[in-house]
Amino acid sequence: MSTPLQSNGSAQNPLNSLDEWEDFVEGRYENETERTKYKGKEAYRQYDEGTHDTVKQFYHLNHKHQTLDFVKQKRRELLTLNRKKMGAWEAIEYLNTLVDDSDPDTDLTQIEHLLQTSEAIRADGHPDWFVLTGLIHDLGKILCLWDEPQWAVVGDTFPVGCAFSPEIVFPEYFKENPDTADANLQSRTGIYHEGCGLNNVYMSWGHDEYMYHVVKDYLPEEALYMIRFHSFYSWHRAGDYQYLMDDKDREMLPWVQKFNPYDLYSKTPDKPNVKEVKPYYEDLIAKYLPATLSW
Ligand SMILES: [Fe+2]
Ligand SMILES: [Fe+2]
Repeated sequence: MSTPLQSNGSAQNPLNSLDEWEDFVEGRYENETERTKYKGKEAYRQYDEGTHDTVKQFYHLNHKHQTLDFVKQKRRELLTLNRKKMGAWEAIEYLNTLVDDSDPDTDLTQIEHLLQTSEAIRADGHPDWFVLTGLIHDLGKILCLWDEPQWAVVGDTFPVGCAFSPEIVFPEYFKENPDTADANLQSRTGIYHEGCGLNNVYMSWGHDEYMYHVVKDYLPEEALYMIRFHSFYSWHRAGDYQYLMDDKDREMLPWVQKFNPYDLYSKTPDKPNVKEVKPYYEDLIAKYLPATLSW
């Protein structure tokens, strides 16, 4: 786990270390047994006590401000994808300029997290597009470099425009979300209808949805689901929101679940040798993605 934040941990922008959220999610599930793995509340049982205040503050802001209007505004603003043109490897190096100000000696850099994830997938003999997915799944975090607040980049994602699930971590913080007072947005299906499909649902804004839009024309559907919904824990881990799912979502859910352990548990102290693996990844990127992507 990261040590508590030492600097800039202001109330306005807690969680100055992106890793702190990742570590929190990992810790939330680390002692989970196979039996309780996908059994709702059980899976979340460990988070409440002993969670660092910055993580709580982070979720407080996230749950308070992620409204349907906020999501629509962010989509209008950022899904134009006209901020920057760069290739995937360039984006990895760009993301790596994001300096983690907590515990710099033991935490992995962003590039190391991405490579550990992809190398673990590769070592298990999965298809190459799956390996590539591991490599790029978090590149949407570059939003932090454009001054987006961290509560609007990382954290668990969830549907807005319908009832907030009690399976979302720290559900009590939704009390302060203006959508909670709107009965139309808090009925079971809200602005959606039964079985409408996740593709028609507005997810809380973050790096997952953003990255999905950057690569949606280039990767297999399974990969796109992994990227788009990897932080949607109340769905892929707790099994909620079944009523929004369509057949495609049911077909893809196992792939999202297959990806999750690599995201959560592939961190090891052995840092990947970037120089050594870079040629393999450059070829892999060139196989699936254009030389330049729009961000
Ligand atoms: Fe992520
Ligand atoms: Fe990740």
